[in-house]
Amino acid sequence: MVLDVSTLKKEVGSAWDVHLFEEIDSTNTRLLEDVKRGKADTGTVYIAKSQSAGRGRLGRSFISPDGGLYMSFCAGDIQHALSTVICAVAVFDTLCSHGFSPEIKWVNDILIEGKKICGILAQSTGDGKRAVIGIGINFIDAAIPEELGGIAAGLDRFCRKTPKKELVASEILKRYKTLSDSLPDGRDRIIARYKEGVALLGHKVTVLGTGETVLATDVDSTGALITLTEDGKTLRLTSGEVSIRKITTN
Ligand code: BTN
Repeated sequence: MVLDVSTLKKEVGSAWDVHLFEEIDSTNTRLLEDVKRGKADTGTVYIAKSQSAGRGRLGRSFISPDGGLYMSFCAGDIQHALSTVICAVAVFDTLCSHGFSPEIKWVNDILIEGKKICGILAQSTGDGKRAVIGIGINFIDAAIPEELGGIAAGLDRFCRKTPKKELVASEILKRYKTLSDSLPDGRDRIIARYKEGVALLGHKVTVLGTGETVLATDVDSTGALITLTEDGKTLRLTSGEVSIRKITTN
């Protein structure tokens, strides 16, 4: 599946400075380095056909075979926890607009029918001002490695005609910009939309690491997950610290 970068550039206009890489270790790693060296800034977008060392949250790797969408961009003047939330809403709304029925798995995954379609990784550039936000979307089901087949899927499993990568990418970038430009006034609306996508509110989840079972009740204005422990205490979970797993009863 080709990536037509000139269409992507035309679609996003001058707000984003798009660079395509045929081969790269990780668009996040490279963009972080380049921002720190002054070679890239807010608005720079790196997009790759595949990655040899894709990175996920909590030090995990993100398998990135040819055929997926691997894109990182530099965002300015924003808390990077909120960047993840805004980005999740941008991806969620983009997939809805193409007829999919996605759900957000707090904090950074987008699922369809319970299978991971997209992961988001926001990393601070260390200057307190900018963040690099990476998005990985599986487009082709057959490209998913066998060992991930039970938990991940490609978009093409859920549609008759797979949307073009450059259109999905441009729509995400445009939506991200509109949402982040709406801050600070737009924060409540962004969080409200995020909560519409988070399917686990009202469900019991396991906090990976501690093994604790908690009830997910809300998402606060910073994107943290508010939960209730079994002994009735409120526990606030932030994205940098934990992962959760929904407890299924069937
Ligand atoms: C996760 O699932 O924990 C987050 C995955 C983020 C993957 C994207 S792909 C583009 C960018 N480059 C990376 O190395 N990671 C992000």
